[in-house]
Amino acid sequence: MAESTPLRLDTVLQHTGVAEFHPLTGAAPVALPSLRTSTVRFKNLDALEKAQAGKAKGERSVTYGRVGMDTHAALEQVFCELESAQRAFLASSGLGAITLALLAMLDSKDHVLIADCAYGPVRYLDKVVLGRMGIEASYVRARVDALEAQLRPNTRALYVESPGSLLFEMLDIPALAEFARRHKLLLITDNTWGSGYIYRPLDLGADISVVAGTKYVGGHSDLMLGAVMAKDPAIIRRLNDNHYAMGYSVSADDAWLAMRGARTLPLRMRQTAENALRVCEFLAGCKETARIYHPAWPADPGHALWQRDCTGSNGMLSVELKLGPAAARRFVDGLTLFGIGFSWGGFESLVQLVDRQAIACHGYWQASDHAVVRMHIGLESPDDLIADIKNALDLAANHG
Ligand SMILES: Cc1ncc(COP(=O)(O)O)c(C=O)c1O
Repeated sequence: MAESTPLRLDTVLQHTGVAEFHPLTGAAPVALPSLRTSTVRFKNLDALEKAQAGKAKGERSVTYGRVGMDTHAALEQVFCELESAQRAFLASSGLGAITLALLAMLDSKDHVLIADCAYGPVRYLDKVVLGRMGIEASYVRARVDALEAQLRPNTRALYVESPGSLLFEMLDIPALAEFARRHKLLLITDNTWGSGYIYRPLDLGADISVVAGTKYVGGHSDLMLGAVMAKDPAIIRRLNDNHYAMGYSVSADDAWLAMRGARTLPLRMRQTAENALRVCEFLAGCKETARIYHPAWPADPGHALWQRDCTGSNGMLSVELKLGPAAARRFVDGLTLFGIGFSWGGFESLVQLVDRQAIACHGYWQASDHAVVRMHIGLESPDDLIADIKNALDLAANHG
């Protein structure tokens, strides 16, 4: 008998979490509705006790509305398909998901190594919460050659993000996973950039993957959501118990919006990636450009790792421009099709003038006087975006 080919992720994303047919009418809506509830009602005590027994075993079993019913379960399934995970736990934001992963897995007196290129607010989480809990953190260039010297007897985890925030430094996840295994560390990755569609850290050896669904999964800049994924049963059990103990909960409407976003994730990601490369090509030809940070761009130092480990790219890029501080501000203010804002992963283009303080702590950053501008290239016509950038560069140069 011929072996059947596993379905591609593009197909799986259209067929996961669909509504069941109604037992009487044999009909179902195509889109699973937003199932809002705080209270779960049981047909009889046997059904309730069965649910309680499942919950005690750590299964996804619902006795109360906090973890959500069908809509939430469908979204968790989508995250499992994306990340090749056995379980996914939802959080009300990406930062909430990071917090869950770290607080679930670390104990007081443990030490965690954190990649210096990780999303900035992780340092704030450390300053305000981890330190107070007696969890030590140190920030390192996440390269195997630099890590060995940073190990302490109580080091329990390595927390990384690839590519890193702001400058998109590609990390060698398989090598970091091998290092982590050798030293009995947990490898936790922030995979918001890849969102499971173009990068799958769990398949590359990571233990836990965290995604801010706020970005590409939601995809429309209208919801906050996070998810934590794992394959290993012992890790899943710890995440499950801590997720419950800390009262994590997501609104059914946000889960529903994220489900809707996931259906078009492949298309949106492919298009923003294509548009971003067009913008890179344009920027590479501009006299103001000193360097482009975008792993899919052939001149990016992480390009070979990107080619090896990723199946696609997205709309994120940073560019170092030979502009002084005032000209850089004129450039950003002169863009009319880019919103000035901190987020990314939506349908629209965004721009942020990177605070050099925020990258001063990245070992990857080679300090210069240039302005660093981060852009999220959205789904607009790249021709219009390029014209807008060209116009803003002219405005930056031609000031009174
Ligand atoms: C890489 C990365 N991880 C996590 C987050 C946090 O996600 P949220 O804004 O949903 O808390 C962000 C937000 O910008 C991010 O850029």
